[in-house]
Amino acid sequence: FQWLPPLQLAQVYFDMYPEEEDPVWGNPCNDKRHKEIWSESKNCERLPQFLVIGPQKTGTTALYTFLAMHPAVTSNFNSPTTFEEVQFFNGRNYYRGLDWYMNFFPGPVEGSPSPVLFEKSANYFDSEPAPYRAHVLLPHANLICILAHPAKRAYSWYQHMRFHTDKVALSYSFYDVISANEDAPKVLRELRHRCLNPGLYVQHLERWLTYYKPKQLLILDGDRLKSDPIAVMDKVQMFLRLEPYFDYSIRLKYNPKKGFYCQVLNEHHTKCLGRSKGRVYPPMNPKAEQYLQAYYKRYNIALSKLLSRLGQAVPGWLQDELRTVE
Ligand code: A3P
Repeated sequence: FQWLPPLQLAQVYFDMYPEEEDPVWGNPCNDKRHKEIWSESKNCERLPQFLVIGPQKTGTTALYTFLAMHPAVTSNFNSPTTFEEVQFFNGRNYYRGLDWYMNFFPGPVEGSPSPVLFEKSANYFDSEPAPYRAHVLLPHANLICILAHPAKRAYSWYQHMRFHTDKVALSYSFYDVISANEDAPKVLRELRHRCLNPGLYVQHLERWLTYYKPKQLLILDGDRLKSDPIAVMDKVQMFLRLEPYFDYSIRLKYNPKKGFYCQVLNEHHTKCLGRSKGRVYPPMNPKAEQYLQAYYKRYNIALSKLLSRLGQAVPGWLQDELRTVE
């Protein structure tokens, strides 16, 4: 070993230990040896204390925006490549390494209190590797996820793909997408999977709970975030123990034109989320609704059992859904 150049040495090592080929980033400050060789210009405070994990199309941008209004909270800097999300734990960005991730967060400023840092990447929720990777680096982090009706979430996602001119979504109806079977073209089957899989909430939650303790997880109701964001933000502040208390009742106001709550700028003006959030589209057709009710039934039943076991509130949409499928 001693006389091999680094690249060949690595080759020999990974032939012997192939399971170690996939890197896993831990916190360098948790290991004395790592801390000793970690550059002095770096510090481990540039890591989030909590993550908003998704899933997509449940109101994650609204939650992100409202959280960022809080004076004690600071979000990640925006990523130029993945729109505003960092998307570190779920995909190829993970291989860019820890420095890449930490550079999304501001370092401590002398004389100022350290802000509570967070990031929101809505694809973390249903990602296979994200829970393990996140836990290795951020074992003490809190997690927030938002659950909306899975059929509505799927439909919103389909509309989102059409808005972004996805060729497959533009060529097929929503029903064609969700009911595509093994004989359907591969692109359509893939779209179906991406559309429906995040809505298998119970499965994804169980995976996060393999690594994180139930008390580290807050589950929010997507419908309530739309209809009463002030109460939801109070719940979030309590969960995160944020100080000082931020009175959202004077900072968020319902905008009848947008049909959603927006940020109060002054007496006469509010700032709403962009036009890609809270879009107007035709209602879902009843055939698709029926299909999805059957498709999600057993997962929704299992979800309500899990939420009760965890002592988390069962969202109104889930209670309604269980009454109709009984
Ligand atoms: P639609 O555009 O289908 O209505 P995400 O940010 O996770 O992609 O979620 C987008 C969804 O957030 C929107 O879906 C909308 O229903 C919901 N939402 C919740 N609160 C909102 C708000 N205050 N403004 C705009 N959209 C909001």
